[in-house]
Amino acid sequence: MVPSHHHTSVLYDAAIDALAVRPDGVYIDGTFGRGGHTAGLLERLGPTGRVIAFDKDPDACHAGWVRFARDPRLTLVHGGFETVGQWVREAGLEAQVDGLLLDLGVSSPQLDNAERGFSFMRAGPLDMRMDSSAGETAAEWLARADARTIADVLWRYGDERQSRRIAAAIVRQRETQPLQTTTELAQLIESIVRRSPGGSHPATRSFQAIRMHINGETDALESVLEQAMDVLADGGRLAVISFHSLEDRIVKRFMRGYAQPPLPPVPAAPRPPAELDIILRKLRPGPEEVASNPRARSATLRAAQRRRRR
Ligand SMILES: C[S@@+](CC[C@H](N)C(=O)[O-])C[C@H]1O[C@@H](n2cnc3c(N)ncnc32)[C@H](O)[C@@H]1O
Repeated sequence: MVPSHHHTSVLYDAAIDALAVRPDGVYIDGTFGRGGHTAGLLERLGPTGRVIAFDKDPDACHAGWVRFARDPRLTLVHGGFETVGQWVREAGLEAQVDGLLLDLGVSSPQLDNAERGFSFMRAGPLDMRMDSSAGETAAEWLARADARTIADVLWRYGDERQSRRIAAAIVRQRETQPLQTTTELAQLIESIVRRSPGGSHPATRSFQAIRMHINGETDALESVLEQAMDVLADGGRLAVISFHSLEDRIVKRFMRGYAQPPLPPVPAAPRPPAELDIILRKLRPGPEEVASNPRARSATLRAAQRRRRR
């Protein structure tokens, strides 16, 4: 299979609309991918507008540097969006960013490239790192983690009911030969989890869970959301597209927490002021988008606006 270089952006118009783009504004695309949303932002910007985009994936950055080489309004950074606060501070842009977009998860080119090891449907090395230039691969982690830790990851990020049995089988297997490929892991899981008729592949949940763990995805999300409060200008917008219920819950709690701060534990102490207004509570793609792009199936968009600082 030839790797695809194309990624169809999910909830494309809705996400860009949610940012209420101003032609001279400064926008951050935290998940550049193949630059679909970035291109949409650039289209709505005038000559003085700016986009700063991040991606951990060197392949995504190389494709973007070529595609947008002639557009001086874009700065594309190879790095995690969880470094956005530091980047913005160093650039002197703190509290001056008009919108921050996150379109979480993996891109189609990442899934389609067997060498990246994200897909149980493509035979390749068990890698799964979004930043293929750094960090521990899935094979390395599965070769050293204890059964309990592996089971916890499969349960927490994959809701995998057979998590303990799968983890025990991985540990047993590696006594003779550690898992090296996507196919070996997928076959091992298939020998434990029964395929339900019409259901997803038995390895779907485990692959997703291991990927989320290897890339520290929920920690990165929690971190960037907190940083957004310092990065965004008064009136700046935050839009997040997530593909996993755990991620959506993190986004929902974060937005709610700043829109309706909880009462302080001390009686009679004043309630802290709201710092966000929720603009979009939960937008799901319509049936047409899901029919034309099955990846959109589990997407949820939420958006909020930063209130004026006191
Ligand atoms: C769903 S794709 C984004 C697609 C993009 N919106 C488009 O329209 O082409 C997600 C991208 O985010 C990147 N990514 C995931 N976590 C990241 C992080 N913590 N920091 C930077 N990039 C990340 C992945 O490498 C991937 O390229």
